[in-house]
Amino acid sequence: MAGKSKILIIGATGYIGKFIVGAAAAAGHPTFVLVRESTLSNPEKSNLIQSFRDFGVNFIPGDMYDHESLLRAIKQVDVVISAVGYAQLNDQDRILAAIKETGNIKRFFPSEFGNDVDRVHSVEPVTSVFQHKAQFRRVVEAAGVPYTYVSCNFFAGVFIRSLAQLGATSPPRDKVVILGDGNTKAVYNKEEDVATYTIKVVDDPRTSNKTLYIRPPANTISMNDLTTLWENKIGKKLERIYVPEEQVLKDIEEASSPLNVRLGICHSVFVKGDHTNFEIEPSFGVEASELYPDVKYARVDEMLDQYV
Ligand SMILES: NC(=O)c1ccc[n+]([C@@H]2O[C@H](COP(=O)([O-])OP(=O)(O)OC[C@H]3O[C@@H](n4cnc5c(N)ncnc54)[C@H](OP(=O)(O)O)[C@@H]3O)[C@@H](O)[C@H]2O)c1
Repeated sequence: MAGKSKILIIGATGYIGKFIVGAAAAAGHPTFVLVRESTLSNPEKSNLIQSFRDFGVNFIPGDMYDHESLLRAIKQVDVVISAVGYAQLNDQDRILAAIKETGNIKRFFPSEFGNDVDRVHSVEPVTSVFQHKAQFRRVVEAAGVPYTYVSCNFFAGVFIRSLAQLGATSPPRDKVVILGDGNTKAVYNKEEDVATYTIKVVDDPRTSNKTLYIRPPANTISMNDLTTLWENKIGKKLERIYVPEEQVLKDIEEASSPLNVRLGICHSVFVKGDHTNFEIEPSFGVEASELYPDVKYARVDEMLDQYV
């Protein structure tokens, strides 16, 4: 483990956090997790906690609202990765305050893991969510703490699994709802690959103060093409129901939370094309599959196979 940065993950027991823990440990980084006492003793999380123990992860009981526990955790590491969820996104300044106080962190990853929030064309209520992430970026930059923002676009376990049908847990077999004209391209990445790329970045100076975009060509695909790919796999044509933007906007207005947020994210991605409607300039970003061609990422084509 000589030379490998020590990594602290906050939000380690969450949806994406657990994959990041696995990737950090697999890559041989001394891995630390700040976990609440109530979670350590939660029977529903016991298998996950045990898997962390099996990886040799170092547990720091604590809470991001307990400043002393944050200081205790951060002092022991070189890198902090926040993977906290929606409810804690607006309180990440607490993590940053502790990082500024200890002064030893050489890379900070705020909880991002989605769209590039500086390059979105969204409507409320999603605009507020994106804006909070963007505002926190400005606070991190002003603090002078080296950072990387991971813009991994869609988690495949959510969006390939459902073929982007909200609320579905498997791809459709009769009809598919397509927001907009179905021609804008979205990006889908397997959670393990998101975690692998995130950990690769930790000790890579090329990614300091940059956004890491995970936009591999084989996973960048329009809804029309994704539907055709799925139809070919199941040997059946689906009824395609296209929802024009005006109707999507009306649906967002009429939906309650959290459906309005999910619909709003889909509007940004599928109607506005916010995963792919800009070039990644070297001044602000790097693309993961170009930077690390050695990573054999899971491709949309093969990810769909498991649902046939
Ligand atoms: N690209 C996509 O498709 C996509 C989809 C969903 C989310 N995201 C993004 O991914 C990021 C992570 O979201 P997620 O859904 O993975 O999060 P999540 O599943 O909600 O997990 C939240 C984590 O934060 C921890 N936590 C909560 N309160 C805490 C506290 N007071 N102190 C310390 N830890 C605390 C939770 O621990 P406990 O186990 O103790 O509760 C859990 O580990 C977010 O930025 C989100 O916007 C992206």
